[in-house]
Amino acid sequence: MKKAFTPSDYLPKKVKIVEVGPRDGLQNETHSLSVTTRLALINRLANAGLKHIEAGSFVHPKWVPQMADSDQVIKALLKPSKFHTQADPTEVHYPVLVPNLQGLQGALQSGAEEVAVFAAASESFTQKNINCSIEESIERFRWVIDSALQEGVKVRGYISCVMDCPYEGPVSTPKVIELASKLHAMGCYEISLGDTIGTGTPNRVTHLIERLTQNLDISQIAVHFHDTYGQALSNIYAALLCGVSTVDSSVAGLGGCPYAKGASGNVATEDVVYLLDGLGIEHGIDLDALIDAGRFICHELEKPVMSKVNLARNP
Ligand code: HMG
Ligand code: MG
Repeated sequence: MKKAFTPSDYLPKKVKIVEVGPRDGLQNETHSLSVTTRLALINRLANAGLKHIEAGSFVHPKWVPQMADSDQVIKALLKPSKFHTQADPTEVHYPVLVPNLQGLQGALQSGAEEVAVFAAASESFTQKNINCSIEESIERFRWVIDSALQEGVKVRGYISCVMDCPYEGPVSTPKVIELASKLHAMGCYEISLGDTIGTGTPNRVTHLIERLTQNLDISQIAVHFHDTYGQALSNIYAALLCGVSTVDSSVAGLGGCPYAKGASGNVATEDVVYLLDGLGIEHGIDLDALIDAGRFICHELEKPVMSKVNLARNP
């Protein structure tokens, strides 16, 4: 008789969620929110139990005006008493995106304790996104990572377009592996795999992660799915079965990428939490408080919630 497949033999016991709504979510909105509103969102997320909240981005405000004043956001978060967060400030991490040394300097001056560099496995996307070639980006990141590590600041590495590129189509798996290995060797403690335009499907995700784990430990891999084709939760499940235990998501399903036409929201954090609950995986997040945070930010943005779970709970 065929042996029954027991998913719990493969699934992680605990998952770390990296909440990217205040950055990946808000960077794509048509209007920019005030620092006060961004802080109000971040504090709601922290109070819901999220421990890793991407709080902003030190990029050129001409390119991404929604992330202007990220320095003020970070500085204010370091004085949490002012914003009455109930979460223990020493337990919550607020990483920020930096594209180059100038961005890193801004992040360090604000007191950021963790930064993320963002590469892409496609030449055209890299040009549109950060105005340089892949090779140039790696050289820039080498300096950024070195300088950050010297200051005791942790560095995460993103790779965009790990499945497909909006300009070039399918992306080669060896290219993703090469970039991941370089970022890891340069000092990134974790590599987040971005399915930027949400075209991935579970078999492709499994294939990529299996190939990557020939070079990296599974604990060094995170997944970052956009839900453009409605595949994000299936892809997360496939990644969890491979042993991945870090998942990026965005409250209310906010998100997209200004340089990836057609990229819809990130997978909604509420939906990921519901999935993890169903699988019996520990995550430490209060779903009701998270739902309230999602409703709050959508009210501020005057847009509907994209999370299925949030909609189901608040028809
Ligand atoms: P550039 O124009 O090539 O920069 O932009 P430059 O070095 O030639 O300098 C030109 C001007 O920019 C100078 O100012 C610099 O001071 C200034 P000027 O002398 O003309 O007044 N400058 C900066 N200003 C503020 N912050 C900086 C900075 N650097 C230079 N850090 C740059 C290069 C990378 C800055 C630009 O292309 C940029 O800001 N791009 C934005 C990219 C971005 O934010 N993309 C979205 C995030 S990535 C993403 O969403 C994907 C992800 O979610 C994963 C996934 O889903 O796939 C992570
Ligand atoms: Mg993204």
